[in-house]
Amino acid sequence: MILHRSTWPEVEAYLRRSQGVVIPTGSTEQHGPQGLIGTDSITAESIAHAFSRTSSALIGPTVTLSQAQFNLGFPGTVSLRPTTLIALLVDYIESLACQGFTHFYLLNGHGGNVAPAMCAFQELYAQRGIAGRRLPPIRCRLRSWWDFESVNRLRSVWYGSGEGLHATPSEIAITRHVLPGCLPPDGLAPAAPLAPAFMRLHAGDNHPDSALHRAHFPDGRVGSHSALGTAEQGMELVAAAAEAMIADYQDFLTEPLA
Ligand code: NI
Repeated sequence: MILHRSTWPEVEAYLRRSQGVVIPTGSTEQHGPQGLIGTDSITAESIAHAFSRTSSALIGPTVTLSQAQFNLGFPGTVSLRPTTLIALLVDYIESLACQGFTHFYLLNGHGGNVAPAMCAFQELYAQRGIAGRRLPPIRCRLRSWWDFESVNRLRSVWYGSGEGLHATPSEIAITRHVLPGCLPPDGLAPAAPLAPAFMRLHAGDNHPDSALHRAHFPDGRVGSHSALGTAEQGMELVAAAAEAMIADYQDFLTEPLA
């Protein structure tokens, strides 16, 4: 069930049987010379929608803007400040919480969303704790689609170190599957491989300013051999992530409110 394709009576009826909602979170930023700027939003949304076809869960509108300041040196990137993204997520969740939703599951497609989302969760809990406001209790969880073990296995078997950190063959594969014919054939050579220390330091898109980022990664890929990703692999990645979500979401719904 997709929220923005539903009517309010349908949502009211949904609330009588479930108080959980899945929120896809993506970004609007460059993804290498041949990847789509909406890649992270397309991947998160397509996995969440695939999940909704095998479950009765409600999927909220995709958050398509993110914290992506490090990519502003590439035309087309739109970034929120981390504080804006935190405020957006708090308002999104609080809007639904005051109607009776209690469990908010963010299915994430962009590393730069992780830290602001964790802050948003703590902000929401703090409003109910430190601030002592009489707000309904809630629970929040974020899962990036590449966190699932079954997905990770595929990524490592197919791409190895060519997966890299940005404009990854796995995310390119998913966009090729979701939007067939939208991407041109990718004849790009492998990007320069990343040192393990760099990977650790910059996980979660923990990158410095955009001028430096473009100087270090001139075509926008961060260690990723984007040409390896195929539509067929994309189909398998979406299916594996949507399948893994079933148990994780069910487990999340059992998290008690008090
Ligand atoms: Ni991405």
